[in-house]
Amino acid sequence: MTANPDEKIRLTAMTSDDPKRRDVAALLAKCRAAVEPTVRAAVDTLPEPVRRVAAYHFGWLDEHGRPRTDDNGGKWLRPALALLSARAVGGAAEDAVLAATSVELVHNFSLLHDDIIDGDTTRRNRPTAWTVFGAPAAILAGDALWALAMRVLTDGGGTASVRGVRTMALTLCRLMDGQSADTDFPAREHVSMAECQAMAAGKTAAVLGCACALGAVTGGGSDAQVDAFQRMGEHLGMAFQVVDDVLGIWGDPDVVGKPVGSDLASRKKSLPVVAALESGTVAGAELAELYRLDRALTPTEIERAAHLVEAAGGREWARREAERSAQAALHALADVGPEPVAGAELRALVSLVTIRDH
Ligand code: IPE
Ligand code: IPE
Ligand code: MG
Ligand code: MG
Repeated sequence: MTANPDEKIRLTAMTSDDPKRRDVAALLAKCRAAVEPTVRAAVDTLPEPVRRVAAYHFGWLDEHGRPRTDDNGGKWLRPALALLSARAVGGAAEDAVLAATSVELVHNFSLLHDDIIDGDTTRRNRPTAWTVFGAPAAILAGDALWALAMRVLTDGGGTASVRGVRTMALTLCRLMDGQSADTDFPAREHVSMAECQAMAAGKTAAVLGCACALGAVTGGGSDAQVDAFQRMGEHLGMAFQVVDDVLGIWGDPDVVGKPVGSDLASRKKSLPVVAALESGTVAGAELAELYRLDRALTPTEIERAAHLVEAAGGREWARREAERSAQAALHALADVGPEPVAGAELRALVSLVTIRDH
């Protein structure tokens, strides 16, 4: 059955203080518990200097190499998507553990490099790895996680593993393309919304799509199911990135765990910013003037830029866009008629992405 795209699927009605939110947090924790040991075991095979940087980045060791017990290692969303996608096509979550591990390794490779590219100094409420160990060490740790991800994918053997490596390699090329556009945009006078969305699709949505597709492959899904899960993940990835952009402007830095305002300071052409620049409003024109200044913005100017994005409608556009992409994800999921329990859990994750605060 193909869902009518105009029909609005009810997102699991969830507000930020809703008990359902705790259920989703518990679901993420359960998925993390199923995958983290395999990720750790893979990271433990790395040669020592690189292992230590990677283990710091994951939050398992502090900067002195001592074990950490507090939880500051990220949300583990992508592995959850892989496990649930496997179950949603009738497989078992265990079938997808290697795929889920591989996707989380790749995600963390991309974060290690991204923080160097963006010059960001905090992530997960801790100093970024490159600020602690230096950029060369963080680049090498990222490279090592990438290589490990490919090795882990082949650990399963068989045709699913060859297909997985190919899907992952194609995803990584899209990620590079998106990251490259993201770094080129600040110097460009004009970036269209279509270009901005293509950038977000590459740097973020491709990986979430890959997580869902690999989950469906390893769960024994048909080609049509794998395609639908890839689409679901990509729509969810677009919602995820637009929310990330919003949190990067208006989030609470203590909750987000990353610098707030650094995208504006770097003149990033993120989704809400491009919506504002394209708005044809007076606020949008003033924002363009600020973005053109050939010097660092002061904290007051960064605040002004945030205000202008909102006044030009960029924040409201982002809210609607996140909702629209989440709806598209739910429609792609409905199209495959998922196994009911896994389907409900995936819908809850989609819902969380649109209201998340970190
Ligand atoms: C951050 O991803 C990078 C983006 C694609 C926006 P997450 O917010 O999922 O990062 P962690 O793993 O939870 O820290
Ligand atoms: C997200 O990049 C995509 C990747 C990390 C590949 P961002 O630069 O937008 O993400 P954060 O906000 O630093 O996590
Ligand atoms: Mg970044
Ligand atoms: Mg970036």
